[in-house]
Parts: sequence; structure tokens; C-alpha cells
Amino acid sequence: MTAYFITGTDTGVGKTRTSCALIHALRQVGHARVVGMKPVAAGCDWVLDDDGAGGQWLNEDVVALRAASSLKVPSRFDNPYALPEPASPHIAAKLADEVIDLAHIEASFHALRQHADAVVVEGAGGFIVPLHEPASGAEGAHFGHADVGEWATSADLASRLRLPVILVVGLRLGCLNHALLTQEAVLSRGLKLAGWVANVIDPEMPHQAANLATLQARLQAPMLAHWAWDRQAEPADLARSLRLP
Ligand SMILES: Nc1ncnc2c1ncn2[C@@H]1O[C@H](COP(=O)(O)OP(=O)(O)OP(=O)(O)O)[C@@H](O)[C@H]1O
Ligand SMILES: [Mg+2]
Repeated sequence: MTAYFITGTDTGVGKTRTSCALIHALRQVGHARVVGMKPVAAGCDWVLDDDGAGGQWLNEDVVALRAASSLKVPSRFDNPYALPEPASPHIAAKLADEVIDLAHIEASFHALRQHADAVVVEGAGGFIVPLHEPASGAEGAHFGHADVGEWATSADLASRLRLPVILVVGLRLGCLNHALLTQEAVLSRGLKLAGWVANVIDPEMPHQAANLATLQARLQAPMLAHWAWDRQAEPADLARSLRLP
């Protein structure tokens, strides 16, 4: 079973684009049942069921991952937390009167891996985005631990799932600092940085080549792809220029 955790230098840097391309790439090399997972999606619309009787909260990343996936699964497995508010997950969860429970996500992930040949897990936001804050009054609470009663972050989820991490670097001013901080955070947790993707999200970025050369010199993992600015790019086409880790 192949699985990866996709993180990024920030929100909106191309994690979904990369996750969808990776799903297609895994399918192109012969994995039959490939599924994307978005454990926590903050920012959903209420979508009515076909019969109009019920409905569900649906996030656009989840829609994109499902369109790329060859394995269709119930939403409790590929998106256990669908939170309406487009905010940091711990804030969106609080507004929805929910608590993001890493054990619940882990159980969903293990259910998926039973049925899939490959799972691509897209994190929320950047690597250390908070998923839940301590219950009020909890003592000794601090970032970095996953127990309920303490802060939990997206990094704790990656650690708990023990997945190799792929870092999407959104190429724009500031990305070197964000990429190097993220690399430190990944490696300091004993996780493997399986590779990184250079994704041009600012077509006007000055000194792009020099920034790319710095990333190549400083990131301790292979560059899996370098994607130009292209609003219309199809994940199946991007997959052909993505090197698998
Ligand atoms: N190389 C690119 N060229 C043009 N547009 C891009 C490129 N990469 C990403 N985009 C666009 O930028 C937006 C953000 O990309 P994407 O949704 O993949 O980011 P994300 O990291 O998954 O964001 P989130 O944190 O919300 O999950 C999307 O509209 C996407 O189509
Ligand atoms: Mg996304």
C-alpha cells in the first residue's frame, strides 16, 4: 500500500493540484484503486442530494480529489470533517461545534488503506496548522502533541499516520523561508520528506530561477515536478510531468 501526506508552504499553493496529479500518476503506473483523502476540509457549501430530501457539506478540494480518484468511498472515509467556515480548522470546528479527533481520522485512513492500493492525503493549510486547541482548563497544553486536551496540528496527523511527506512549494516571494521551515518541521518529527513540487503561483515572481536553485540546494529530497503558471492545467496532464517519489 502506497500513501503520501501532501503539505504545502501555505494555504492556496497547489496542494490539491498536486494531490490530484499524484493520484493520476499512481493510476498511470498501474495502481488500480487510488483514492484521495482530505481529512479536514474547512470551507464547504451545502449541497442537496439528487432527490432533494437531504444534503451534505461539500468542499471543492474533496470534489476535485474524488474526480481524480479511481476508488469511490463514503464521505466519512475520504472527508471525515467537512466544516462550513473557511477558517483555520480549529476555529472552523469550534464554530461547527465539533472537535477534530485525530484517532477518528486515523481510523478512517486505516479503513481506506484496507480497500485501496494507494492513498493520497491532503493536509489543511500549511504543515503546523492547528486542528484543535486544548479543552478549556487543560494544563500543560502546548503545540506538538496529539492527545485530546492538548493542541493538535496537521503535523501531528502526519506523524500519527506515519506517512512520507510531499511538500508543495508555491513559488512566490517568501517561499524559501516557508519551504525551509516546513522541511525542518517535517524532519524534526522523524518523518520522511519524500519529495517536493515547485509550483509557480505568481507568474510575475522575480528571480524565479535563482529561487529554484536555492530550493534545489537546500531541500533534502528530490524535486518531483516543476509546474509553470497555468490556470487550465488538467491533473492527468500534470501527472505526466510528475516524477513519483
Ligand atoms: N501553477 C498554477 N498556475 C495557475 N494556477 C494555479 C497553479 N497552481 C494552483 N493554481 C490555482 O491556485 C488555487 C489554489 O490551488 P490549490 O487549490 O491546489 O491550493 P491548495 O494548497 O490545495 O489550497 P488549500 O490550502 O485551500 O487546500 C486554485 O485555484 C488553483 O487552480
Ligand atoms: Mg487544497
